[in-house]
Amino acid sequence: MNAKTVIKGKIHYVGVNDRNKHLFEAMWPLPYGVSYNSYLIDDGVVALVDTVDVAFFETYLRKIREIIGDRPIQYLIINHMEPDHSGSISLIRKYYPDIVLVGNRQTFGMVEGFYGVAGERYEVKDGDFLDLGHHRLRFYLTPMVHWPETMMTYDETEHVLFSGDAFGCFGTVDGSCMDTRINLDKYWDEMVRYYANIVGKYGSPVQKALAKLSGLKIDTICSTHGPVWTENIGKVAGIYDRLSRYDAEEGVVIAYGSMYGNTEQMAEAIAAELAELGIRNIVMHNVSKSHASYILGDIFKYRGLIIGSPTYCNQIYPEVESLLSKLAVREVGNRYFAYFGSYCWAGAAVKRMADFVEKSKFELVADPVEMKQSMTDITRMQCEALARAMAGRLKKDRQG
Ligand code: FEO
Repeated sequence: MNAKTVIKGKIHYVGVNDRNKHLFEAMWPLPYGVSYNSYLIDDGVVALVDTVDVAFFETYLRKIREIIGDRPIQYLIINHMEPDHSGSISLIRKYYPDIVLVGNRQTFGMVEGFYGVAGERYEVKDGDFLDLGHHRLRFYLTPMVHWPETMMTYDETEHVLFSGDAFGCFGTVDGSCMDTRINLDKYWDEMVRYYANIVGKYGSPVQKALAKLSGLKIDTICSTHGPVWTENIGKVAGIYDRLSRYDAEEGVVIAYGSMYGNTEQMAEAIAAELAELGIRNIVMHNVSKSHASYILGDIFKYRGLIIGSPTYCNQIYPEVESLLSKLAVREVGNRYFAYFGSYCWAGAAVKRMADFVEKSKFELVADPVEMKQSMTDITRMQCEALARAMAGRLKKDRQG
């Protein structure tokens, strides 16, 4: 037995690190890479929990065989069908043709749809269980965390939760998967960015899942991405709880587009006044330079949001429009919002952003500011008034 792979009891880590991929879901940068976590339970009967991206199948199979040799795997538990985890299902069935697939009704529709795989299956309902010998597993359906078929598997013997994407984060696990054995600094911001971009739309299902799990004694969380959590469960659960309630810290994100620096002057004037008024957390993003995943991460972190856009072809500046679309998709709420814009000969951005606000769940805290061509004393005063309104709204929350 390789002690380095053991997590608890007879549970082993057989996941892989991806340091090659540039963009997760072909959209989100991976400066620290990403891990695809899979777990092997080497019990009276052997069970595998989720698989890995198919590109890593050879490494994956070798890791499995280092633990069980030529013995068969009886069960493949499929908590989540997104291909970063389900990608190796076909090949696993090829190498283990008698394996029984364990999932729920929604899972099997996707297994057939993606991989054309049929065969023996155990279709579970919420609360069903599977006895492996030492480990006794119970299944909890947690739809839309992050797809409709998602479920979690709870090991009642060792109090281990196999949570799928929940409690996951970007970043490979270097040297060990255990949170007790590695430096965790890089994961905390990457957890917020992962949540904001991947799970961010599904705040309400995450809250339902947290409520469902609240009665369980959980000593270890085995997510599909990032470290295995033991000593940090309270912190990790707290982050997921806060983010899924769209709760946030005091602070303001100012995200703006600016082709020649004029709209940027408005952003600078607003930021300077916010700082003058005692708002310490101010994060400014030029939307043409900052990748949207970082802007979204900061928007999930801070309660104030101010967006600025020049007018471009009688529309909102396309990079700002793209950010607004990502915000709308995630149904971000509980934010204090203000906006500003500029134009050269005919204003459109501010007018069109008003339509966005109308449909959003944001609380508008100030009149928008619109500037023609370049900064004037009047525009500066309007920007400062906008900042005062935002600071005032944030400070009101300090009183409780
Ligand atoms: Fe890591 Fe939703 O897949």
